[in-house]
Amino acid sequence: MTEPARSRLEKLETAAQSITWHVTSARWQVAREVAAVEYLMATLGSDRFLPPIGGWSVDYSVVAAVLDGALARGGPVHSLELGSGAGTPWFASVAKLTGGQHVAVEHNPVFVARTMALLEHYELLDFCTVVEAELTPGADGAEWYALAPITSRVSDGSVDVLVIDGPPASVGPQARRPALALLERLLADDALVVLDDVVRAEEQQTLAAWEQEYGDRLRVLPILDRAALFRLRSAAPSEGPQSGDEPDPTEEA
Ligand SMILES: C[S@@+](CC[C@H](N)C(=O)[O-])C[C@H]1O[C@@H](n2cnc3c(N)ncnc32)[C@H](O)[C@@H]1O
Repeated sequence: MTEPARSRLEKLETAAQSITWHVTSARWQVAREVAAVEYLMATLGSDRFLPPIGGWSVDYSVVAAVLDGALARGGPVHSLELGSGAGTPWFASVAKLTGGQHVAVEHNPVFVARTMALLEHYELLDFCTVVEAELTPGADGAEWYALAPITSRVSDGSVDVLVIDGPPASVGPQARRPALALLERLLADDALVVLDDVVRAEEQQTLAAWEQEYGDRLRVLPILDRAALFRLRSAAPSEGPQSGDEPDPTEEA
């Protein structure tokens, strides 16, 4: 065989291996999503055909993991989703099942209107609020959701489940990284957190940075493949400011 022919053959073999890997991976993905849909049908108890998800929206397996986590937590489960879309009625249905409330944060008025229309259609407006929060530059220049519209509707320590699926990657590098630092005070102890799209390098870097920052307060649950699922414990009192640190006004200097 001539050298050019050998080189072409090697390239063809590499391409064939890559195609085989992608087809196998797609089959696993379908199998995982089928298992998640079966769990949702058996457990969510919705009699409506909720909008198909995946692609721009979270996968069925993300909603299934959130539902499972919510039921294991017990009681009314309150959830917060960054970035709204077809997944929002699914999370609203989980909140409805537990007696809780879902809040979806959206920067784009077009998608605020679309998500509201979906919620109205599925009669889920009593269980879900869509909060419009424009993207504004922070101190480092990176854009993130305006905090005031979020914190005025969600109280400290009330969020049992946080789904981080926005802002979109187009906003800038590691666009979702500010989420934990800015929203930590809203989270209940041992909150369940989803970081979607960890197939992307940016989100993998974000997760690695959080694991470093939060140490053993953050426990990754190796359940999902295209999203990261973890629990985040509140800071122990000793890690925050101590009441004893304040000067005693009754003491003489
Ligand atoms: C990843 S999407 C959020 C999806 C949402 N969490 C869900 O599961 O449906 C991030 C942003 O993209 C926009 N978006 C939502 N659905 C979209 C769609 N089908 N096509 C294009 N952009 C979309 C919205 O502005 C949203 O905040």
